[in-house]
Amino acid sequence: MTDLYNKYLDMINRQLTAYCPGTGGVLAESMAYSLHAGGKRIRPVLTLAFCQACGGDLQKALPFACALEMIHTYSLIYDDLPCMDNDDLRRGKPTCHVVYGEALALMAGAGLNAEAFSISSDPSLDMPDRLKREALTVLAGASGKDGIVGGQVLDLENNGKTKLSETQVATIHHKKTGAMLKAAALLGCIAADAPEEKRTMACCFAEKIGLAFQIRDDILDVVGDTGVLGKTTGKDKVEKKITFVDLLGIDKAQRLVEEYTAEAKQALACFSHPEFLVYMADMLCSRQK
Ligand code: IPE
Ligand code: IPE
Ligand code: MG
Ligand code: MG
Ligand code: MG
Repeated sequence: MTDLYNKYLDMINRQLTAYCPGTGGVLAESMAYSLHAGGKRIRPVLTLAFCQACGGDLQKALPFACALEMIHTYSLIYDDLPCMDNDDLRRGKPTCHVVYGEALALMAGAGLNAEAFSISSDPSLDMPDRLKREALTVLAGASGKDGIVGGQVLDLENNGKTKLSETQVATIHHKKTGAMLKAAALLGCIAADAPEEKRTMACCFAEKIGLAFQIRDDILDVVGDTGVLGKTTGKDKVEKKITFVDLLGIDKAQRLVEEYTAEAKQALACFSHPEFLVYMADMLCSRQK
């Protein structure tokens, strides 16, 4: 399974380098700096894995996989800005604004976001217009007010609150993190022109994984190792965020991660070869970075 993960990673990283070589000036350089800093690439890997699980052609899913990673990277650049989480370490390197300054970091993020839509709407993409339109709708939805942007605003409003229910925290997690994972799964299905039943179950899987992923992120913020994580720990406390760790404690929060992971895996029953997706779910459940 690690071999398959590495194969997907290699495809994604090569294509991202082709799209964003980092040459041609300081804007291109700043975009490439954050994009190629060494993320786990779980969103684009999920896109390729769902495309494969639906019997599709990976090359058709690859542009959308890369687009998601660009949008995700832009969201990290913004998340780290002094006006947001104010972080100076990301993916084991100084954050974009630390290296290039805040103004250029803003433009690098905006540039990556625009580039994602540019590659996804390229007229030379070899697939029916119907599927291209669906893919663009999914990308826009996950990155906008009902996805990352909306979720990040709810997350900011959470700063300093003294009380938040589990449902409220789950809503923030669904929007800021779950929406992109759902888009990742769905884009793989769309690229493979998968039937409705598979799309629905892929979304169901990704929603559970999304929640588990952010709860695990919140746990790692408390118990993780900065050297392994590549980002500063203890930030949620400094920024006064309420997370599942505050509401439940570490052990119960991890049990919730395990429950959501188990539920996610159950959603894979309609796929004839879910092995890699099961492997990913398990890997994310106990990840250290
Ligand atoms: C970090 O995402 C932000 C969250 C949504 C928790 P990742 O943990 O996927 O970060 P990279 O891409 O591997 O750096
Ligand atoms: C951010 O959540 C999620 C995004 C949409 C970027 P966090 O703020 O907890 O992510 P990290 O811990 O900085 O990666
Ligand atoms: Mg944040
Ligand atoms: Mg953050
Ligand atoms: Mg975090």
